[in-house]
Amino acid sequence: MGIFVHEKTGEFHLYNNEISYIMKVLRNGQLGQLYFGKRIAQKDNYDYMIENSYRPTSAYVFEGEYSFSLEHLKQEYPSYGTSDFRMPAVEILQKNGSRITNFTYVSSKVYAGKPKLASLPATYTEKDEEADTLEILLRDELLNVELTLYYTIFNEENAIARSARFENKGGEEMQLTTAMSLSLDLPDADYAWMQFSGYWSRERHLKERTLQPGITSINSTRGDSGHVHNPFVVLKRPSADEFQGEALGFSLVYSGNFLAQAEVDSFGVTRMMMGINPFGFSWCLKGGESFQTPEAVVVYSDKGLNGMSQTFHRLYRYRLARGEWREKERPILINNWEATYFNFNEEKLVEIARTAKEDGVELFVLDDGWFSTRCTETSGLGDWWANTDRLPNGIKGLAQRIEDLGMKFGLWFELEMVNKDSELYRAHPDWIIKTPGRSTSHGRKQYVLDFSRKEVVDYIYGLVEKILSESKVSYIKWDMNRYITECFSAAYEAGQQGEIFHRYILGVYDLYERLISKFPHILFESCASGGGRFDPGMLYYAPQAWASDDSDAVERLKIQYGSSYAYPVSSMGAHVSVAPNHQLYRITPMETRGNVAYFGAFGYELDLTKLSEEDHAIVRRQIAFMKKYRSLIHNGTFYRLKSPFEGNITAWMVVSPDKKQAVVAYFKVLSETTSPFRRLKLQGLQENTRYHEVDLAAEGMDTSMQKGVQPGYFYGNELMNVGLVTSDYSVGEVSKEKHCADFWSRIIVLEAEEDCP
Ligand code: DGJ
Repeated sequence: MGIFVHEKTGEFHLYNNEISYIMKVLRNGQLGQLYFGKRIAQKDNYDYMIENSYRPTSAYVFEGEYSFSLEHLKQEYPSYGTSDFRMPAVEILQKNGSRITNFTYVSSKVYAGKPKLASLPATYTEKDEEADTLEILLRDELLNVELTLYYTIFNEENAIARSARFENKGGEEMQLTTAMSLSLDLPDADYAWMQFSGYWSRERHLKERTLQPGITSINSTRGDSGHVHNPFVVLKRPSADEFQGEALGFSLVYSGNFLAQAEVDSFGVTRMMMGINPFGFSWCLKGGESFQTPEAVVVYSDKGLNGMSQTFHRLYRYRLARGEWREKERPILINNWEATYFNFNEEKLVEIARTAKEDGVELFVLDDGWFSTRCTETSGLGDWWANTDRLPNGIKGLAQRIEDLGMKFGLWFELEMVNKDSELYRAHPDWIIKTPGRSTSHGRKQYVLDFSRKEVVDYIYGLVEKILSESKVSYIKWDMNRYITECFSAAYEAGQQGEIFHRYILGVYDLYERLISKFPHILFESCASGGGRFDPGMLYYAPQAWASDDSDAVERLKIQYGSSYAYPVSSMGAHVSVAPNHQLYRITPMETRGNVAYFGAFGYELDLTKLSEEDHAIVRRQIAFMKKYRSLIHNGTFYRLKSPFEGNITAWMVVSPDKKQAVVAYFKVLSETTSPFRRLKLQGLQENTRYHEVDLAAEGMDTSMQKGVQPGYFYGNELMNVGLVTSDYSVGEVSKEKHCADFWSRIIVLEAEEDCP
């Protein structure tokens, strides 16, 4: 396992037991891509993989020769204009107006472990043995600019992390206008492209299309990764599915404007790219300055989409998320937003908390509306001190009252925003992002603070630090409720305005870093009007993210299923809310709302003081269930079994690392008459182990929801090949029982028998 560098042939082979990634210095000194996929044998020379021959109308690099065109060659970090006409990974606008670059090989360096990325989130290693890193140094001699390409291969994961760093070694100022994190030329185009798209309250819905000649792409231009597209795409073979076949996952560890695109050229090559969106971006690179791109992670799976996702889950749960909360059991929380919105006082909050405590909730979260004059969305953002009319004892006093109940206390912030009706705005009207001479668009009556400026970030840090230092706060929900418009910073000169989107997100990362370093015991949950910034960049600071403002159980099937392609269950904030649901007015059973939310960072988002005794009993059972199984659900291996994007049935399961326990969730969205007989084949169990179904009725779960599985035991190979017979979950046509109605679901827990033969 490791990285093989063959100096003589200029070849680099990164490999572990499962994958190989091979590059070569081409005849013109640029870096070529030879292979990425299943592990192949190490050889000294793979020249046969370089395909390059005469084509009329192509342009050729070497005078008089018709056999070396960059248009034909698969490359690692291509540039435009020197015989390659595809979209480039790099473009630099120079003083004389030229954009041509030519980065050629200088040297390479291999070492164990993985370096940190300055000021940017990234995957990491805890021990050097976990990964090996290759640095390839390239130089454009004419510009005197160095480009270092970083490749880290993880020994136990089929993943490669990539990024690029530019350094202007000369004296001439230039503009970096494209600097992708990853570019990968794949030798064919026989792929389906999968993206995860939507809008507010319907984030990360799976969409699929077949690659065609030309460009397939998604992006963000909104200043955050956004609700519309997620910085994650998959290229899968048409014949691959959840359980078998080849899939490549591409994920950008970044929370700002991004681009993910695949360009299929005339020769059937697919050029995959990912990085900061070049649209609207430029970075002024003065002499002696450098620029580091965000990190992109590419995962190869020959075990289908579940195999790909499981790699991302492990990597992002254990080697992207950090800190005390990475592996700690996540507290079951109650959030007051949908219970009260802006309409609360201290007594009401304590009443909700007390009721929640009686039901077993561990953390009370106070959402929007607790500060300054914030009683509606029109005022107060930016003034982070308690509204003492509502909270006479301040945050300190309220937090103490919650602690005295035996619960932890959490608090909502929206640190990047300001209302014009605020002391902050009145004192510093120039601290918002706005373009001189233009009107400034609002979103939710709020404006975006210019986080590209250190003094703005410092000011906000000071306010938050004061509250957190004097009060017992164990959790922070960090919200962000609008996109950036009229992007311009008063603090930067004209030539730097293309930097502001990126500098803004660096400011956000800086504030996160300072807060998590100063308050390492606090659990952070990121949020952006629900799931508008549900990305790997955020996971580096906040190990969980509010997945969507839509907490309707049926909608959540798609949102959580879609999210699971890249993100671990533990990262998805998922709450049981009231019925009728506040986003859709749909009425779903309390049990189903719980059964969906178990597969996330679990909590409640309703006024528990208004529940019937019957519903309280369900809440207590749900909490008891989650406390018992959360460690398994968050640390186990997650499998998607049946897709909500394909039919009426959704199913998924989690298997414990030792394969002795599994939790299966089965959802039937609409009731059916004369429905088909159905079986659900399980995954990931031990072939010859005997499993029995845990009697959840004995654990106080609603028995009417737990019917169906035949008594006795099953061998793992029965469960995986015959499957659970689920036909009797569809008997709506012959039964009036509640479990047969719309939005029906059930949880099945399987346990290996100790003394199984
Ligand atoms: C949007 C979030 O997604 C909600 O959960 C809530 O915190 C509101 N903002 C509060 O303004």
